[in-house]
Amino acid sequence: MAEKAKIAVFISGTGTNMAALLYASRLPGSAFEIVLVASNKANAEGLKLAELEGISTFVHSHKGHSRESHDLAMEKAVRKANADYIVLAGYMRILSDEFVTRWLGRLINIHPSLLPKYKGLETHARAIDAGDSHGGASVHLVVPELDAGEVLAQVEVQIAPNDTPDALAERVKIAEHQLYPRAVSDYVSRGNDPAHLFERVRTLALALPETHERESHGSPGFRVGSEKTGKYFAYFSDRHHGSEHIALLVKTSGMDELMDLVEAQPEAYYKPAFYGASGWVGVILNRVDIDWDSVSEWLTRSWRSVAPARLTKLQDAADMF
Ligand code: GAR
Repeated sequence: MAEKAKIAVFISGTGTNMAALLYASRLPGSAFEIVLVASNKANAEGLKLAELEGISTFVHSHKGHSRESHDLAMEKAVRKANADYIVLAGYMRILSDEFVTRWLGRLINIHPSLLPKYKGLETHARAIDAGDSHGGASVHLVVPELDAGEVLAQVEVQIAPNDTPDALAERVKIAEHQLYPRAVSDYVSRGNDPAHLFERVRTLALALPETHERESHGSPGFRVGSEKTGKYFAYFSDRHHGSEHIALLVKTSGMDELMDLVEAQPEAYYKPAFYGASGWVGVILNRVDIDWDSVSEWLTRSWRSVAPARLTKLQDAADMF
């Protein structure tokens, strides 16, 4: 069983979505645990429930603070709690661009509309006024632009003939309580999903010049050059040859560098069976704090080490601009 992802939940109000996440996290096999519930309001109802259930809480009123300094105080508590992700659950503050940028890909929100419809406030009234057949809720990644990040999951809720915003909001919340734990669980599990990791590696590998995919001894590999004379610069290994890792295999400069990497960062690198003997290192992909920029750099470097000179020269020229 993989380690659980640690999440901090931000609330401003009743916190029923936080409660749904909390009880979901206590079911056997949950992919996440809540390590902190934080609020910008001392009287947020959800704080009491979190305390009752033994979850650490943190309150920092936004009054009298700039957006940046308030966000920094919240962030400090999140880091102290060692959270990997921040999950917003009725957190009614707009976050500073700097904060959002620091947490890109690790900051999730639930919004009570079928995005991209009805960003912002009064979502239920707007859906009813527009004569929509359905309202609903969306779970999305947070980006600096309000309610505009990638939608991870949605649920539709039927609008009744004489619906009111309050009645609709109540039914949407019931739907949200089903949606949010599932969407958070799927999202934080992506890092252990070989299909997801492979797709990311593949996109990066095939973006390099003159590359193609070719299987080798049962593992997907990537080559540079022609179909006929191309050379392998990377392999994707899904717990192959008895390894517990899902990994990218790339070329180092040789055994010294390989052993140095494994010794200095055993959580990030290992010496793969067979390939290790010729200086290929395993870059471990199924880790919570995987650095995709570093994966991309390894691919480029490994590509360079086997690509024909005419291609690396072109790349050198392109890199100068
Ligand atoms: C939820 O309906 C959530 O979608 C909404 O606030 C409510 C919080 O309820 N969020 C937003 O409007 C964000 N812009 P809760 O405190 O009971 O979870």
